Amino acid sequence: MKLLHNKVAIVTGGASGIGRATALLFAREGARVAVADMSETAGQAMVEEIRQAGGEAFFQRVDVRRDADCAALVEATLGHYGQLDIAFNNAGIGGAPSLTQDQGLEQWRQVLDVNLTGVFNCMVHELRAMKERGGSIINTASIMGLQGTAGSAAYSASKHGVIGLTRSAALEYGKYGVRINALCPGFVATPMLVGETSLLDPKGLDALARSVPMRRLAEPAEQAEMVLWLASDKSSYATGGHFVVDGGVLA
Ligand code: NAI
Repeated sequence: MKLLHNKVAIVTGGASGIGRATALLFAREGARVAVADMSETAGQAMVEEIRQAGGEAFFQRVDVRRDADCAALVEATLGHYGQLDIAFNNAGIGGAPSLTQDQGLEQWRQVLDVNLTGVFNCMVHELRAMKERGGSIINTASIMGLQGTAGSAAYSASKHGVIGLTRSAALEYGKYGVRINALCPGFVATPMLVGETSLLDPKGLDALARSVPMRRLAEPAEQAEMVLWLASDKSSYATGGHFVVDGGVLA
């Protein structure tokens, strides 16, 4: 039997990178998927790809910074599929590197708003929907949520925050059968890192890959496999944890 048979899942940031790979894998494993993203064209294309492969999905345009969008996402998911079992709160942004003193309040707020408040906004509505019948929430943090990162204070702080939020909520909701965990990817070959807007040139990327004990970046699908495990009943006793998939960087 497929791992997510009869399950309904939300994936934010589902139009690209780790979210995209996860939405595809969830659908392949039998879940009906709400693909949520700010990018409508890529999100619709993603849903079409899932349908072509025989899966079930719909797209919802969401800016996770907006509480009303997150409420509408959960409402639309319940409207389409009648239940919510899994939520992968994954939408996130990087941020230009700079010294902390030069970061600027605007960029600080932008990164925190998407990466941390965005996860909070989604969780509020997902938890309300899951409290009666249980579920699994996975929040995307980062290895930068477990160590400091010179030049990326806002990003690192936002990801430390995601782990704190995940742990605190896990303490509250364990008794309701809602498991809440964080994914901590290392360096992943997604548009955030290797795309046109990447802050690294090819030489920098090569050096980054060589710095990893496994000598390469992760593929998004390698992150999706961990998310699938956390989403499925295979991880039935895992909650409040953070799961590192980093090719050995933190070792
Ligand atoms: P990506 O840039 O490929 O995908 C991010 C997606 O989030 C995009 O589709 C974008 O449209 C969407 N998004 C951005 N802001 C949004 C908002 N306000 N509301 C709704 N959707 C929004 O990036 P990637 O790499 O797949 O990132 C996914 C998550 O993984 C992020 O939280 C990121 O911080 C985290 N991460 C990525 C790593 C990497 O090396 N690529 C490493 C560790 C963590």
